[in-house]
Amino acid sequence: MIALGCDHGGYELKQEIIAYLEKNHLEYKDFGCFSKEAVDYPEYAKLVGHAVAGGECEKGILICGTGIGISITANKIKGVRAALCSDCFSAEATRLHNDANILAMGGRVVGAGLALKIVDIFLNTPFSGDERHARRISKIED
Ligand code: RB5
Repeated sequence: MIALGCDHGGYELKQEIIAYLEKNHLEYKDFGCFSKEAVDYPEYAKLVGHAVAGGECEKGILICGTGIGISITANKIKGVRAALCSDCFSAEATRLHNDANILAMGGRVVGAGLALKIVDIFLNTPFSGDERHARRISKIED
C-alpha cells in the first residue's frame, strides 16, 4: 500500500500519480488534500509519515510546490526517510543507499513525465542490503 499526500502545490501532480498507480494496479491510500484550495503541507506530511512509520503503508509519496516543506516535516517523524528527488539518479540511489520510504517531489519543479519516471524507479528499486548502507541508516536515528 502506497500512502499519498500533497498540498495545493502538489495536487495536480498527485492526480497524475494516481492515474499511474491505477494503470499499474498498485494499491494506494490518498491522505489528501483533495482540491487545489490552499492548505498547510505539514498536515499531509504528518498523515503520510505516520502511515509509513507505523507500518500501515509500505511507502509514501508526498508532493508540495517545491517538495521541501513536505519532506522537512515528514523527516521529523521517527522511522521516516523521505527523499526529495527531481532526477532519476537520485531516486534510484536513495532506494539503494538510504532505503528511503517516502519520495517527495515538487509539483512546481518537475513535469509529469519526469515525475512518473521517478515514481517508477522509486517503487521498483530495492534497498541494496549492503552492510555499509545498513550501518549508515542505523546511525541516522541512534
Ligand atoms: C505553498 O505555496 C508552498 O509554500 C508549498 O507548496 C511548498 O512549496 C513548501 O515548501
